[in-house]
Amino acid sequence: MLEVVGGGNVSDHEDMFVPVLDENELNEGSMKLVNIEGTPVLLVKVLGEIFAIDNRCPHMGCGFSGGSLDGDVIICPCHDWRFNLKTGEYEEMPDMTLVKYEWKIKAGKICVKVEDEEEW
Ligand code: FES
Repeated sequence: MLEVVGGGNVSDHEDMFVPVLDENELNEGSMKLVNIEGTPVLLVKVLGEIFAIDNRCPHMGCGFSGGSLDGDVIICPCHDWRFNLKTGEYEEMPDMTLVKYEWKIKAGKICVKVEDEEEW
């Protein structure tokens, strides 16, 4: 069962990165859904790498948190579209990409910036 983690309301005004989760709470091959000032952000750790993406699928908005992982690919639960987490691309139509956010580790916490979407 995917755990929805609250918090994320207190912005780090210095740099707009919001602490959302202890780094050690995100295990390899797992996903955690967090809410950052109204934006649903899915944190994913695969192959030792962390990704912070908008939980809403660019196709029709289904939540990736109900989907699954296949290596570095995340699969949407609604229509099984497969998006590569490293490139953001939908495998069948590379122009369609995930929305990803910048993140960093600060004092053992994963901090995410939702103000600006990151470029792929
Ligand atoms: S809503 Fe995600 S594949 Fe259709």
